[in-house]
Amino acid sequence: MEKTLQGLAEAFAGESQANRKYTAYAAQAEKEGYKQAAKLFRAAAEAETIHALTHLKNMGKIKSTKENLADAIAGETHEYQIMYPEFIEHAQAENQAAALRGFKFAAGAEEVHANLYKKALANIDNEVTTDLYLCTICGHIHEGTAPDVCPICMAKAQAFKIVD
Ligand SMILES: [Fe+2]
Ligand SMILES: [Fe+2]
Repeated sequence: MEKTLQGLAEAFAGESQANRKYTAYAAQAEKEGYKQAAKLFRAAAEAETIHALTHLKNMGKIKSTKENLADAIAGETHEYQIMYPEFIEHAQAENQAAALRGFKFAAGAEEVHANLYKKALANIDNEVTTDLYLCTICGHIHEGTAPDVCPICMAKAQAFKIVD
């Protein structure tokens, strides 16, 4: 079972990455005018999601929503408190401006995500309905209404889209 679990974890990570990569490749193919290649990338991207979700389920990682919220809080907290600060330091030392900006945006957004998850868990037995706006530039999530300026990446209100 141990080796199977290792395989499931590795396959989940690989398939998840393949999904995002093929989604980006599909957009690039569209940009270059290759409609059929774009379609193939989109089909494969969706197939990789099916594989990823099967592996995740077989790892026993999809639990109750309360447990899933706790897991999400832990993941986001690790990212903004430990992972990204280290990556930011490296990008600064190596003068990698684009990577640095991406890491900073993500770190800022992850902190907000962690707090939103905490709030959701605290209110889970008495859920409050609010609108959620996503910044399409940095991934910040804003509750209520779209802000005039994104507090993390300074994008204008038009960069926000409401989430279903
Ligand atoms: Fe996040
Ligand atoms: Fe933003």
